[in-house]
Amino acid sequence: MSFRAFVLATGGFSFLGGLLFGALSGKTFLRVLLLFFLTLLLFGTIRVIRLTIARQSGSALQNPLTLSAQGLFDDLFDPMLTGLIRLLRDKNELSVRLAEVSSRFEGVLEHMVEGVAVTSSNAQILLVNSAFERILEVPAEAAVGNRLGLVIRVAAIHQLVEEVFRTRTKVMREVEYHEGGKKKTLNVVATVTETRDGSGKSYGIFLFYDMTTIRGLERIRKDFVANVSHEIRTPLTSIRGYAEALTDGALADPDLSRKFLGIISGQADRLSHMVNDLLELSRLESGTVELNLGEIDLGLQADRMQEVFSSRLAEREIRLMTDFPRPFSYVSDESLTDLVLTNLLDNAIKYSPPGREVRISAEKMEGTVTIRVIDNGTGIPREDLPRIFERFYRVDRSRSSSVSGTGLGLSIVRHVMTLLKGRVEVRSEPGAGTTVSLILPQASFPGGIPPGSGISP
Ligand SMILES: Nc1ncnc2c1ncn2[C@@H]1O[C@H](COP(=O)(O)OP(=O)(O)O)[C@@H](O)[C@H]1O
Ligand SMILES: [Mg+2]
Repeated sequence: MSFRAFVLATGGFSFLGGLLFGALSGKTFLRVLLLFFLTLLLFGTIRVIRLTIARQSGSALQNPLTLSAQGLFDDLFDPMLTGLIRLLRDKNELSVRLAEVSSRFEGVLEHMVEGVAVTSSNAQILLVNSAFERILEVPAEAAVGNRLGLVIRVAAIHQLVEEVFRTRTKVMREVEYHEGGKKKTLNVVATVTETRDGSGKSYGIFLFYDMTTIRGLERIRKDFVANVSHEIRTPLTSIRGYAEALTDGALADPDLSRKFLGIISGQADRLSHMVNDLLELSRLESGTVELNLGEIDLGLQADRMQEVFSSRLAEREIRLMTDFPRPFSYVSDESLTDLVLTNLLDNAIKYSPPGREVRISAEKMEGTVTIRVIDNGTGIPREDLPRIFERFYRVDRSRSSSVSGTGLGLSIVRHVMTLLKGRVEVRSEPGAGTTVSLILPQASFPGGIPPGSGISP
């Protein structure tokens, strides 16, 4: 018996055996079908072996019996084998396509700014993206498999989850809550979708957009507008009050008139300072300020300050001292550093009792220069230190109200220092005095340090 005949016989017997076994066991058509496919697989394998042998021997197809066996193979099993191979190839292509779609879907999900959670119809989380983990501060492992309302322990979100599944309509809501002492604002959009296959299965889709920063900025803007209005209204009320008093008869009294006019003029000055400071702040914040870097002689700068403040210094019997070697040069923007020093000296003089000293010191360190404005005045309470750079913040308003000011000076200082890529530090002891340090980078400016500045990078 030739090898091929043996193969044919085995295949045929398996097929018949399959039919017989199926019929005998009474277990239906399925088992027969399974055996039929096994037989088919066997023939397929044999076909491959046969072709290999034929290719190796080169003479196997000479025999007429072999030729008819080959005809049987070609007519009956070739189409089946080809079909099987096509089936396997299609399945493979399908799984490649599926992998592609799934990786594209994951990519989109991971690049979304919104946190996404997909839940089953009973609000059990099926998947979340990394924005969800970040915004809600819940790792995916802790979220998936649990109920959304339990994972996010916020009553408003709990209600929203319940509502969206009950009404099956799109629900949008802004939710505010406290997390670790911080207020958080989330914009939540929730929908329920049904699968298209008609199985009636539904899923909940939840999007979380973090509005905390935007709402925080809005609050600052609103506070700012409220503060400006308040700060402007105070001197205006005072001006109107004294002007009315004058028209109502005080004008007849020369001493009273002089006093009232002095107050009116002072309040008008205050208003004009405030407008100037506000304009300065908005200029610094606009991002259009161009740095004009160059070598600055601190000695000359201090002399200039002495001149600017000469009458105030004399008035309050305060001496302005310098504490650095001359010449002392550094690299920065002269008009911006002038603005910073003016504001710091104004504070140092304003918040020092008469007869004290105000000092400007400076030192060079690795890649930086530090300029200090030191006073031994009233000082700043520890609890106020973190807030003094806020716009309009003035320590103890009743104390400050006797001293003119807008509460904008240190905001301006901080903005300028940011523009100059430096930083400002304050040390203060109530009753003992205040030291404000300006730390300016010297090596990191584009174009480096001009030659002859005496500063080693
Ligand atoms: N050198 C200082 N000594 C004491 N308090 C100071 C000093 N500098 C700033 N402060 C406090 O910080 C607050 C904010 O300063 P600033 O923004 O310059 O506002 P202003 O000078 O208009 O009051 C001041 O109102 C004052 O209470
Ligand atoms: Mg000030």
